[in-house]
Amino acid sequence: MSVPKLCQQFIYGGDYNPEQWLDRPDILEQDIVLLKKAHINTVTLGVFSWSVLEPQEGVFRFEWLHKIIDRLYQNGIRVILATPSGSRPRWLAEKYPEVLRVREDRVRYLYGERHNHCYTSPVYREKVAVINRKLAENFKDHPAVMMWHISNEYRDECHCPLCQQAFRKWLKNRYQNIDELNHAWWTTFWSHTYQSFDQIESPSSIGEKGLHGLTLDWKRFVTAQTTDFMCHEIRVLREAGVQQPTVVNFMNDYTGLDYYKLAEHVDYVSWDSYPTWHHKSDVLTAFDTGMQHDLMRSMKQKPFLLMESSPSSPNWQNISKVKKPGMLMNAALHAVAHGSDSVQFFQIRQSRGGFEKFHSAVIDHYGGEDTRIFKEVTETGVVLETLAEIKGSQVNAAAAVIYDMESRWAMESAKGPRNEGLFYHEAALKSYQALRKNGLNVDVINMEQSLEKYRIIAAPMLYMFRAGIEEKLRGFVQQGGILVMTYWSGIVNETDLCHIGGTPHGLTDVLGLRSEEIDGLCKGETNHFLPLGKNGLFMKDRYECSHLCDLVHLDGAKPLMTYAENFYKGYPALTVNNYGSGLAYYVCADAEMDFYLDLYRNIIAEQNIPPVMDSIPEGIEISSRTIKNTEYVFVQNFTEEPICIRLPNEAEILFGCYDGAIQGYSSVIYRKKTQLPQK
Ligand code: GLA
Ligand code: ZN
Repeated sequence: MSVPKLCQQFIYGGDYNPEQWLDRPDILEQDIVLLKKAHINTVTLGVFSWSVLEPQEGVFRFEWLHKIIDRLYQNGIRVILATPSGSRPRWLAEKYPEVLRVREDRVRYLYGERHNHCYTSPVYREKVAVINRKLAENFKDHPAVMMWHISNEYRDECHCPLCQQAFRKWLKNRYQNIDELNHAWWTTFWSHTYQSFDQIESPSSIGEKGLHGLTLDWKRFVTAQTTDFMCHEIRVLREAGVQQPTVVNFMNDYTGLDYYKLAEHVDYVSWDSYPTWHHKSDVLTAFDTGMQHDLMRSMKQKPFLLMESSPSSPNWQNISKVKKPGMLMNAALHAVAHGSDSVQFFQIRQSRGGFEKFHSAVIDHYGGEDTRIFKEVTETGVVLETLAEIKGSQVNAAAAVIYDMESRWAMESAKGPRNEGLFYHEAALKSYQALRKNGLNVDVINMEQSLEKYRIIAAPMLYMFRAGIEEKLRGFVQQGGILVMTYWSGIVNETDLCHIGGTPHGLTDVLGLRSEEIDGLCKGETNHFLPLGKNGLFMKDRYECSHLCDLVHLDGAKPLMTYAENFYKGYPALTVNNYGSGLAYYVCADAEMDFYLDLYRNIIAEQNIPPVMDSIPEGIEISSRTIKNTEYVFVQNFTEEPICIRLPNEAEILFGCYDGAIQGYSSVIYRKKTQLPQK
């Protein structure tokens, strides 16, 4: 099926819930006027409309939605239309209790909240099919509808009898016979051997939690079942004749699902970004958010969509901080810089009651255009219109960080080596941030993706080797790539069984070492890295490390730094090994940020990898998008103060004020001819 091209403007808008205002036609009229004033060109409709679209089983009301979509279209505003499965009506739960989720402790939920329905229930699937089909029949040919938003933030899990049955079926399909499963899960341990698939129950606090293989497969099953449910939703739309592209919206660093699996079945990936701006360093928050943007883009290796963000404060964080002047536009351009083709808000009009009445909105309870937020939304809309030529462009990344959900699941559910916290996300973020601060665009990939186009691969805490990653990494280094692997890598196989014969499994010759012991450090306890002689690296004299210290046995690798304290003082802390035409570094402990910054600065200089920009001052984030031979460089200040910066001579400024400095919470975008190879 051919997917129509989105039009040439950035998508600009957000979640709009007119069903809450059907008794206020004056407000609905006013919304259109304000949307146009704000330069909004798209709204997401119908995310939570089910009880208005189908107030009783089999009784449908679509006239109101027709009216709204027609009116939006007449006013030049397009629609991303959602299937309403994210929150089901009361009558459905009442008549069919099987649609309600069961918790891991086997208690069934009452009706309430949202996202609490069973994805396995045939009744729920059937009812969703009915409403999706109706929506499709009503709107598939409407010229305003540009995309279909499938459900909303799929999440969580259900342990009901139907899900248990489906899990057993899934396991049978995976292992074929029970002996295979027993081996994969190592069930002889504590005498837990299963005689048949029928005996298997999902992990529970009142049952089995100690078999990590079971926990891992359960998580895989939850992803598979959610993906299957999403595909069911899409299939119904397609069978009813829907031609427009589909999109699914993801959440920040959500570990309940492996998003890569869902991403395969939709045309666009999108996410809902709610960083805690102004709570701590905004610079750090920007890097953390940037990593999520890059993860979303990397899933499909193409532009993603920013589906939601708050115009000012969200209401569900511990403290609701309003966005300081300039932050709204900076956050919007930040998403664009990292490859988003949209900027969207939650919510367009602030609801009057319910859970989100204090969540910020483009149009607040006051309802006028003379508010700070409305003005900033409008300014951002105008700017996005002037940047239309950037839409659709790619991000060329010389480096990638491997950030793999299955590996994370396995690592975090295991007991040891540090049950108080492994700091995986933080470790990945350090590598990511160091690469970006040294001027490279970065992809955030999983183990299934190709490594071919990168010069540097950061492999922090790659606990589980799967999808042939060891062979891919070997080939990558062989061909001249630079691998930076850390402690706690290559420990288990795909079913969570520890590798025997030395770790990091299958790469000990590439790295020139094997890991022998790993020491967990208590909270507040540290060790240090010291340089070893003239090692060719321009590093500082001392870096702190914490949490985990790997004690390695060298077998060809050259030590570059050593530990400073404990009985392992003098043991290697950073090593490098020549393999093929490349280099394999091994970082033995959870070193501080500065260590990674300096290490990558050395590597990038030594390898002559051209950064997007040289000499990036603290507080500035650089990212670029490329189309043909033009590179668009985004220079963003995430502090309150102006920052002096030298832009390259060839920079042709497309947007922003630059007088040798960039003002607080603002951005400059410039064009230059690219030096990167054309893909
Ligand atoms: C999520 C949901 C929205 C809304 C926002 C509020 O992203 O998708 O429906 O609840 O959070 O921040
Ligand atoms: Zn269920």
